[in-house]
Amino acid sequence: MVTIKVAINGFGTIGKRVADAIDAQKDMSVVGVTKTGPSFGCGLAVKRGFPLYCTFDDEEKISSFAERGYDCKGGLSDLLSIADIVIDCSPGKMGAENLAKYKSAGVKYMFQGGEKHSLTGLSYTSCANHAENFNAQGTRVVSCNTTGLSRTLVPLFDFCGSLKVECTMIRRAADPGDSHKGPINAIKPVLQVPSHHGPDVMSVKPEIQINSMAVAVPTTLMHVHAIIADLPVGHGLSTEMIIDMWKNSPRIIVMNGKNDRIPTTAEVMEMARDIGRKWGDLHEIFVWEDGVKLVDDRLYYFQAIHQESDVIPENVDCVRALMGTEKDWRVSVSNTDQAISNYYGL
Ligand SMILES: NC(=O)c1ccc[n+]([C@@H]2O[C@H](COP(=O)([O-])OP(=O)(O)OC[C@H]3O[C@@H](n4cnc5c(N)ncnc54)[C@H](OP(=O)(O)O)[C@@H]3O)[C@@H](O)[C@H]2O)c1
Repeated sequence: MVTIKVAINGFGTIGKRVADAIDAQKDMSVVGVTKTGPSFGCGLAVKRGFPLYCTFDDEEKISSFAERGYDCKGGLSDLLSIADIVIDCSPGKMGAENLAKYKSAGVKYMFQGGEKHSLTGLSYTSCANHAENFNAQGTRVVSCNTTGLSRTLVPLFDFCGSLKVECTMIRRAADPGDSHKGPINAIKPVLQVPSHHGPDVMSVKPEIQINSMAVAVPTTLMHVHAIIADLPVGHGLSTEMIIDMWKNSPRIIVMNGKNDRIPTTAEVMEMARDIGRKWGDLHEIFVWEDGVKLVDDRLYYFQAIHQESDVIPENVDCVRALMGTEKDWRVSVSNTDQAISNYYGL
């Protein structure tokens, strides 16, 4: 089996998780990760055995790593020269600048949800459009919210053939590792209506008609979505059938808030820590069974999203799509998730 050589540009919240998930797979390996300078994250790269490169090609910046005791192998260009594909995990809105570097190095490239669809003209979610991304030169893995919406809405759409959705994103104010975001004592409506989250689903599944509003609340654990979906007349579904559909779909966990005593995101994240993935991650979308209700043709439900980690396995599947090594998204998802479980000894 040929091993796909993956570079990771940006080793922060998403980059370090993607690096572990890639390292867990048999068919790909991490050839290097970048840091802008010798900060605490370099220690993790060294501990994990990931070759460390500088985000920039500047000699002075490269040598600053050695001054702090880190072995830096070179600049971004050196890393790109040994990679088949680069996963850009830089902070959002740096895409245009980085895209030019990837194109000039002739590597395939993947961006994250902080970039706009227009940067690549193509976006990715495993269950929605793996085939459309097959052998493409570059794409964007959609954001945590869009990934979460796609996980539950795409199977529903595939069954019904049409779907009209309104949703409210109740967003965590910051990642647990952020110290510069808020609010800490307020509820902050996103005064751009509709918010970008819902419509972004149409970048991977244009047939789903969807709009969203968003508010940021003072919590760092998870996002919660309150979703109303109108199914077509004659859909033939019941509440129980929809719950079963989600229980049988990959990367969705359905539990009963009352009976399982898991009523809030605090208990959901405690359950996630019990699973035993690193950082207490929850790759699955969490749906409260007793919060799902179909009234005539209108479906109501809540779901919770672990913002730092639901996109991680999607990045692995996306590598296989772009490299043209696995056409069946279900096979890729199964291989990805099994390898991650084995990696953490779960
Ligand atoms: N965090 C989430 O919950 C989440 C969820 C889904 C998607 N995303 C998206 O994922 C992307 C990365 O977000 P993140 O949360 O991982 O950000 P982050 O924690 O701030 O990490 C970004 C990393 O990139 C490094 N970096 C800075 N400038 C760079 C450049 N020009 N080129 C390459 N790397 C650079 C950073 O600096 P240092 O090397 O100095 O540390 C850091 O290591 C964004 O598009 C974001 O919207 C984030």
